[in-house]
Amino acid sequence: MIKTSLNIQKVAQSKVDQLDFDNIPFGKVFTDHMYVADYKDGEWGEFRIEAFGHLPVHPANIAWHYGQSIFEGMKATKSKDGIPMLFRPEMHSKRINRSAERLCMPPFPKDAFVEGVYELVKLEQNWIPKAEGSALYLRPFMIAMDEFIGVQVSKTYKFIIFCCPVGPYYSKPLKLKAETKYIRAAEGGVGYAKAAGNYAGSLFPTELAKQEGFDQVLWLDAKEFKYCQEVGTMNIFFVIGDTIVTPSTDKGTILEGITKDSLLHLLRAKGHKVEERMISIDEVVAASKDGSLKEIFGAGTAAVVANVEKVGYRDHTINLDIDSYKISPWLKDTINGIRSCRIEDEHGWTVKVV
Ligand code: PLP
Ligand code: COI
Repeated sequence: MIKTSLNIQKVAQSKVDQLDFDNIPFGKVFTDHMYVADYKDGEWGEFRIEAFGHLPVHPANIAWHYGQSIFEGMKATKSKDGIPMLFRPEMHSKRINRSAERLCMPPFPKDAFVEGVYELVKLEQNWIPKAEGSALYLRPFMIAMDEFIGVQVSKTYKFIIFCCPVGPYYSKPLKLKAETKYIRAAEGGVGYAKAAGNYAGSLFPTELAKQEGFDQVLWLDAKEFKYCQEVGTMNIFFVIGDTIVTPSTDKGTILEGITKDSLLHLLRAKGHKVEERMISIDEVVAASKDGSLKEIFGAGTAAVVANVEKVGYRDHTINLDIDSYKISPWLKDTINGIRSCRIEDEHGWTVKVV
C-alpha cells in the first residue's frame, strides 16, 4: 500500500482522553495529527504525518486572495468489532482531482491520497466515535501557497488532511428555501468542483433564508430559476409516487455527491424506480398539491441522509409529514449499517484499516 516515503512523527501524548464522546460538537474538535504534502518544482513531495497545528502563511498567499482552494469531506467509522474503516476513498481522490483541474491546481496522486487517509486513520483510530451515525470526519484539502499579489496560477501548493470526531451534522429535519434571486452555480462555472468559493458565495443567501425561518437554501438553476440543483451541503432527492428523482449532474452545476451515488446504487439494487434528470420546482409543487410527493431528503457525507419537512418557494409552502417517510429512513439505516458492518457491504465500498 505505501507508495511514498511517508515520514510519520507521532506526538508524545494524545489528547483523546479529553474528548467527551457523548457530546461531540460538529467540526470543533481536532485530533492529534495531520497529513501534509507540499508541491513545488512541478511535483508533490515531503509526504508526512505530523502534529496537528497552525500553519505559518504569508499575507499575500494566493489562496486567500484569489481562492485557489479546494477540499473533500469523507468519513472513517469503526466496525462493530472495532476495526477502522474508510468509505470509498478512491472516489474522493477522483473528485478532488476533478476540482483541482477546474481550479488550475495540480492533481494529487491517487495512491498518495489513499495512503494518507489510511495511515492517518490508523494513527487516529482511538478518536473514531463508536456510536452509529457518528464518525471521524476527514477533511483533505489543497491550497495555493505562492506569495504573490498578481492574479495567476500558483506554482506551489499544500495538501493536508486533518480529522474531527463528529456526530450528525443536522440534528433536526430541515426547512429549505427554494432561492429565486441568488444562484450557487451556472453552466460553465465551478459548481461541480468542491471549491471553497462555492461555499463563500452561498453564505449571504443562506443567512437571508435563515432570517425567514429556513435552515438551508435549495438552489435553482441560474438561467430560469426553475430546475432544482442541490442544497448547500448535500444533494437532494424527491420521492414522487413510486419514483425517486434526483437532479442530474450533467450540466456541471452540481457537486457529484459520493453519498448520492451510493444511495442510487442501493435504491437500484433494491428494485426501486430511480430517475436522475432535471426536475423543476413547479413539478415538486404540483406533486405536493396532488398528494404524490411522498418525501424530500438530502444526502451528503456530513449530513448522511437528512429529512426535509418544509420547502418554501415564492408564495408556496410545501409541508411534508416526515413520520410517513419510508425510503429515507431505510437509506440512512443502510448506509450507517454498512459503515458499522451491521449490514453487509455488497458493493465493496468500505476499506478496512488493519
Ligand atoms: N453538495 C454539496 C454542495 C456538498 O457540500 C456536499 C457535501 O460534500 C454534497 C453535495 C454531498 O457530497 P458527498 O456525498 O460526496 O459528501
Ligand atoms: C461534507 O458533507 O463533507 C461537506 O463537505 C459538507 C460541509 C460540512 C461543508
